[in-house]
Amino acid sequence: MRKKIVAGNWKMNKTFSEAEDLITEIADALDEMELVNTEVVLCPPTLYIEMASDVAEEANFKVGAQNIYPADAGAFTGEISPVMLKELKVEYCIIGHSERRKYFNESNEFLMAKVDSLLKHGIRPIFCCGELLPEREAGQHFAVVKKQLEESLFHLTAAAFGMVVIAYEPVWAIGTGVTASNEQAQEMHGYIRQLVAEKYGAKTAENTSILYGGSCNGKNAMELFAQTDVDGGLIGGASLKAEEFIQIVSSL
Ligand code: PGA
Repeated sequence: MRKKIVAGNWKMNKTFSEAEDLITEIADALDEMELVNTEVVLCPPTLYIEMASDVAEEANFKVGAQNIYPADAGAFTGEISPVMLKELKVEYCIIGHSERRKYFNESNEFLMAKVDSLLKHGIRPIFCCGELLPEREAGQHFAVVKKQLEESLFHLTAAAFGMVVIAYEPVWAIGTGVTASNEQAQEMHGYIRQLVAEKYGAKTAENTSILYGGSCNGKNAMELFAQTDVDGGLIGGASLKAEEFIQIVSSL
């Protein structure tokens, strides 16, 4: 059975002491909850990963990174390698977020290299896909998502693909307060699962966790997560407040 996952993408937020408080609050709240077949993942800025990993050892969450450079080591000033993250017990890494595609010009081809680099070290990619508003308005959203998956993921073997989590994040919904409707989310998630089934077979498709991201919050999470093919969420803004994040986890 595929896992339900709620992952918090903190982006470039929180000071060191604020991060410490948030991690502790979330860990304490998770302690009181019974999570069945459910994974909670915190993806803080790289600087706070070691602290999060220390707390995670005794807590009910996993640690994820927000980015890597696709090489084990070398002359790549300012970058972080999957080897370094693996040593800090990082289990997940967000890849292909629309902010990285937009501000850092990350192409599908470069993202493919990142996916390979993570898998080489046993770190699970949370692979983000999703269309821009004009693409949806032009009816191109299915084609855009298909291309992103084909060019960055579908070179993988079935065994390697089994490590991948997909996050559908319509770009127009990220940080805007405009959430995809339950129907829009289900329609795309169903389509993604169908693409995975065509490429890797029905069993792999059934086992793939597909998360929704984009203005998911404490109020709308329950309905979104109730959709057949929505297996949890990748949460930005609402992951920065312990109470709301926990409310979202409770919505699974
Ligand atoms: P948001 O961000 O929840 O703030 O819309 C989601 C994301 O960027 O992963």
